Amino acid sequence: MAQEFVIQILEKEHYFTQHHIPLVVTQPSVTLDASCIRIQSKVLSLTANNISYAKLGFLFNWWDVYPLPPSTPSPFNDASRYGRICAWGFAEVVASTHDTVAVGSYIWGYLPTGTLPETLEVEKASGGHVAAINQHRRGLSAGYNRYKVYPASLKTAIEAREDSIAYDSLVRAMFSTGYLLNRFVFSQDQISPHMESSTSRTWSSEAADLSNALIFCLAPGSKTAMCFAHELRVTRAESTRLAHVVAVSSDLSIQFVKDSGEYSTVVSTSSDPMEVLKCIGGGHSTQSKVVLFDFGGRPGLAEKWASAISNIYEKFVLVKVGSGISETPSSDILAILARGERPSYETIQVNASVVRERVIAKIGSNIYFEGFEKDWATFKDSGCIKGLELTWGNGMKDLEKGWTALCSGKVEPSKGLVYSL
Ligand SMILES: NC(=O)c1ccc[n+]([C@@H]2O[C@H](COP(=O)([O-])OP(=O)(O)OC[C@H]3O[C@@H](n4cnc5c(N)ncnc54)[C@H](OP(=O)(O)O)[C@@H]3O)[C@@H](O)[C@H]2O)c1
Repeated sequence: MAQEFVIQILEKEHYFTQHHIPLVVTQPSVTLDASCIRIQSKVLSLTANNISYAKLGFLFNWWDVYPLPPSTPSPFNDASRYGRICAWGFAEVVASTHDTVAVGSYIWGYLPTGTLPETLEVEKASGGHVAAINQHRRGLSAGYNRYKVYPASLKTAIEAREDSIAYDSLVRAMFSTGYLLNRFVFSQDQISPHMESSTSRTWSSEAADLSNALIFCLAPGSKTAMCFAHELRVTRAESTRLAHVVAVSSDLSIQFVKDSGEYSTVVSTSSDPMEVLKCIGGGHSTQSKVVLFDFGGRPGLAEKWASAISNIYEKFVLVKVGSGISETPSSDILAILARGERPSYETIQVNASVVRERVIAKIGSNIYFEGFEKDWATFKDSGCIKGLELTWGNGMKDLEKGWTALCSGKVEPSKGLVYSL
């Protein structure tokens, strides 16, 4: 029987431009090889992170996760110009030849943006996961190939659009970054994974120590920043809790950030860093450690704050987590990388998937996922990000509108875009 599916295709160099392409497929068109599952996306979400996948996809193989299907019409079948980007969420397993994944069950993970079923070759992994091992995905960092398996009974919650399903789709991956930063990268437990620093210093327990540090967060209303700030606030012992976690927010996000209660101080991006430092840093010597986390702030913001702070505080580090919402051609990014400019202050770049694998290599996946699931369940049960309003859309037409809104910078951080397909 012929069925019509829709996939989102982006212009690789102009990824704010999307094309939603209908594809007619006769199902089941091919039988599954051994150890394969065929999946169909059912719940997907959109955040600034999806834009990053398009912006940096050429560096991290993110365009290759779900290649253009052979039936893609011209000109969209030209993989040098067009491609597909993933979104986090749930997919239904519509066919399976793998022992541990039943037809009708669900997987959570890095999914194709569209309704077209896709085939994953999988192997069992620890912690209730399976890992995709398709040849074309072997260059990907392991986290993108790991899928958590849920029983068929999840269908009820998915169809009821329960908040928990939306949080898993929209926030779980971002929470995992905040969790890694708080529990491992900046941990005093001697289990910090190695982090590459611009100064080539070894990531020591001293580097990982945040006691008495001043923390600044850019794009503090982002899901990733909110999760990190929450973890900092609730999981650290009273004695090691941080005195100041300062949010530096744009006007679009500031009310949401203030109302969240996650930060001890909230200032505007238009504030003068020197004035803020005078007020906040008053009781701190210039020997204090200051860490600036950039969760994808507006252009030039990180550099402005990093220069100002590092002029005064010797022990300063900029932690680069995200990049703002922008359409930047790959040539511009390559030109920046080629210039290889090194600022005078220390920077570290976070790649959560790589960090997670390093942590797992140190403590084992069972311990890692047990700890993660516990913190994540507690966060969800407490209502997840305070003030986050879930807005459910229907199908690919609504997702198309969501992508356009996200690219235009009009989606307030309080709006959580989730789609049932
Ligand atoms: N390195 C890693 O491993 C890793 C892991 C997870 C996430 N990330 C990155 O972290 C960043 C945040 O991701 P998220 O999913 O948490 O994002 P999100 O919730 O959608 O972030 C929303 C925030 O983006 C900021 N923003 C920057 N430029 C904007 C623009 N032009 N229009 C509207 N808002 C803009 C806003 O903060 P202001 O209004 O205050 O500017 C807003 O609060 C992304 O760059 C993502 O790729 C990186």
